[in-house]
Amino acid sequence: MNVLRFEDLVARGQATGKRVFIRADLNVPLDDAGHITEDTRIRASIPCIELALKAGAAVMVTSHLGRPTEGEFKPEDSLAPVARRMGELMGREIPVVANWVDGVTVAPGSLVMLENCRVNKGEKKNNEELAKKMAALCDIFVHDAFGTAHRAEASTYGIAQFAKVACAGPLLAAEIDAITKALANPKRPLVAIVAGSKVSTKLTILQALAKNVDQLIVGGGIANTFLLAAGLPIGKSLAEADLVNEAKAVIEAMKARGAAVPIPTDVVTAKTFAADAPATVKAAADVAADDLILDIGPKTSALLADMLKKAGTIVWNGPVGVFEFDAFAHGTETLARAIAESSAFSIAGGGDTLAAIAKYGIDKDVGYISTGGGAFLEVLEGKTLPAFEILQKRAQG
Ligand code: 3PG
Repeated sequence: MNVLRFEDLVARGQATGKRVFIRADLNVPLDDAGHITEDTRIRASIPCIELALKAGAAVMVTSHLGRPTEGEFKPEDSLAPVARRMGELMGREIPVVANWVDGVTVAPGSLVMLENCRVNKGEKKNNEELAKKMAALCDIFVHDAFGTAHRAEASTYGIAQFAKVACAGPLLAAEIDAITKALANPKRPLVAIVAGSKVSTKLTILQALAKNVDQLIVGGGIANTFLLAAGLPIGKSLAEADLVNEAKAVIEAMKARGAAVPIPTDVVTAKTFAADAPATVKAAADVAADDLILDIGPKTSALLADMLKKAGTIVWNGPVGVFEFDAFAHGTETLARAIAESSAFSIAGGGDTLAAIAKYGIDKDVGYISTGGGAFLEVLEGKTLPAFEILQKRAQG
């Protein structure tokens, strides 16, 4: 993907003394007392800011936090806790500037955080006047917010249209490179795991991947709908019977390309959905009317693990069982460990997937862990993200 990269501008000395506006995704979870409960996105945003500071730029960074009402700033919308946490990590004070749209004072070598950009009127609808005002604040606009790359808002899209220079920050560039390596230019076989509770929420992903991947592993409630499509009993398991035809179409589309959707041959069941419910391993064909399928069985896990170990590229979105309950976590753990041991390039994304990666401590063994939630899913759907579209356009001059 041809986009201008901030790292290249810095290497050529083109950021020195310049006003640099960084759009990061610092939308982190906060508890009821306003404390940050998970700071990955803050940590992931720091390299770009350090790069700009080292280059001697006057640095402004902003982000959205939550979904506030435009024009109605409330204390809980403030980026102050984010600035504090980032300040601790960077070993410096980071002032937070409110009402910044009409002008910001920041000296070369200094850093300020511009208050929650979603409080500005016109942000969501990508208002042109607002975007132009933001663009006027800087010499270089750096988009480093992959988590927001699927939104076309004033601080993510409009500013990129009107800024003198618009480029990708190192985090966005790393995401672009990993996505390209996994989906546009994959070493084959390309194996995708798409798991989650409902086919309906991931149907477009399944349909898009069915055109590209060599093996499409399905898990969770999604696998139950595929078991139904394959004519197997699922008892009272979570499934969407009205989407069986769509599941069949995915299976057929894969077959027509000489690819496959491996249907589980054994499963782990329980009579109730509970952490302490007794777990029973059985053949997929033997699921009883009062059974709940809560995981894939050991034979299926071993077969899929072997597939993952032989893969050239792996795309992982979603745990294949109820991995929060230990008795139903073996499938997810086996596949996670197979991904970790595989020599394949792997890319993983999505909240539950990241929780599984953390649970099994394999973060260092996954090729790339995406910081995007919705953005990662839209990439898997085969959509061109607005951020990629505008940055490519700007790179063409
Ligand atoms: C996310 O948390 O996925 C991103 O920060 C985007 O947030 P949004 O869905 O509120 O645009």
